[in-house]
Amino acid sequence: MEEGAACIADMKRLTPTGDPARPVEFQADSQPPPAPGEALIRVEAFSVNRGETFLLEDPALGLRPGKDVAGLVVQAAADGSGPPAGARVVGHPPAAGWAEYAAVPTHSLVALQESVGAVAAAGLPLAGITALRLLRAAGAVAGRRLLLTGASGGVGHYFTELAAGAGAEITAVTATPERGARLAELGAAHVVHDLADAAGPFDVVLESTGGAALPAALARLRPEGTLIWFGQASRQSATLDFFSFFDGPQNARLRHFHYARAPYGADLETLVRLVAAGRLHPEIGRVADWSDAAAVIVDLRERRIRGKAVLTIGGSR
Ligand SMILES: NC(=O)c1ccc[n+]([C@@H]2O[C@H](COP(=O)([O-])OP(=O)(O)OC[C@H]3O[C@@H](n4cnc5c(N)ncnc54)[C@H](OP(=O)(O)O)[C@@H]3O)[C@@H](O)[C@H]2O)c1
Repeated sequence: MEEGAACIADMKRLTPTGDPARPVEFQADSQPPPAPGEALIRVEAFSVNRGETFLLEDPALGLRPGKDVAGLVVQAAADGSGPPAGARVVGHPPAAGWAEYAAVPTHSLVALQESVGAVAAAGLPLAGITALRLLRAAGAVAGRRLLLTGASGGVGHYFTELAAGAGAEITAVTATPERGARLAELGAAHVVHDLADAAGPFDVVLESTGGAALPAALARLRPEGTLIWFGQASRQSATLDFFSFFDGPQNARLRHFHYARAPYGADLETLVRLVAAGRLHPEIGRVADWSDAAAVIVDLRERRIRGKAVLTIGGSR
């Protein structure tokens, strides 16, 4: 845009309100001008992640949430990288994806096969890439016993199917049988609703709920096992006791895990390929028009959605 030119509001985006009961609202905005290595996407569907609900609790000034988008390239990247105009794509921009148009770096944007719809695609990026990278962090899992807490969410469903497919014996922890039903179909060997019922010892524990669950899960680790600590959904910090390790997980490793390291294109491509091949089944617990975004975000936050929550713009399959 030329210097001094008027900024024309030609699209809508969702913007944080700071109100926990209605955490987002529509705002008129102008289409984002893509940088040379970015394509402009007309967004058809996007998903919501728990980490984004945390950011909405006390939103930073200018926060524009949205890291998971699927849609159509309306303007290819000026540097010639990435999919051409007209391509159906899924992408993982750093932010600002809850909008009619989003600028997405081509290193984190991949074309979709015809068989992969926008809703399934939008559910893939953050949770799917996290699951894939968690599996790599867990190492060689074939024949190993894994314990996964917070398993009924977006990451949990992807991780369960990927790890079971790689030969792991997974025990998944969910709040209720209903929230764990799909995990058994995706390959979980056991689904329990109380950590006390998780029959260890486990080679690897993947913990993302925090509070009392972290030491309880750790206690089920075998000596010299690994606990991968990747979240704190409860928002409660955990207390660990050095001496409790002698009751089981002596010499255990505790690994902090954060998925974020661009580029994401290669991992996104893997996820899309697995979905197209029928080897990965996005569990989309809620699909709604983005006019219902505030209610959907509250439901995700309050554990009323299983798997991923996807919002569509203008109706999408
Ligand atoms: N480190 C990273 O790089 C990274 C990346 C992505 C996500 N994460 C974190 O990993 C976790 C899973 O992510 P996600 O996208 O799958 O989230 P999600 O879809 O919201 O799932 C989280 C699950 O945690 C369970 N949970 C247990 N206790 C909870 C509590 N007190 N409050 C809320 N939820 C509770 C819920 O299952 P039940 O209701 O069945 O118990 C819920 O389904 C989150 O903590 C997220 O912040 C970390």
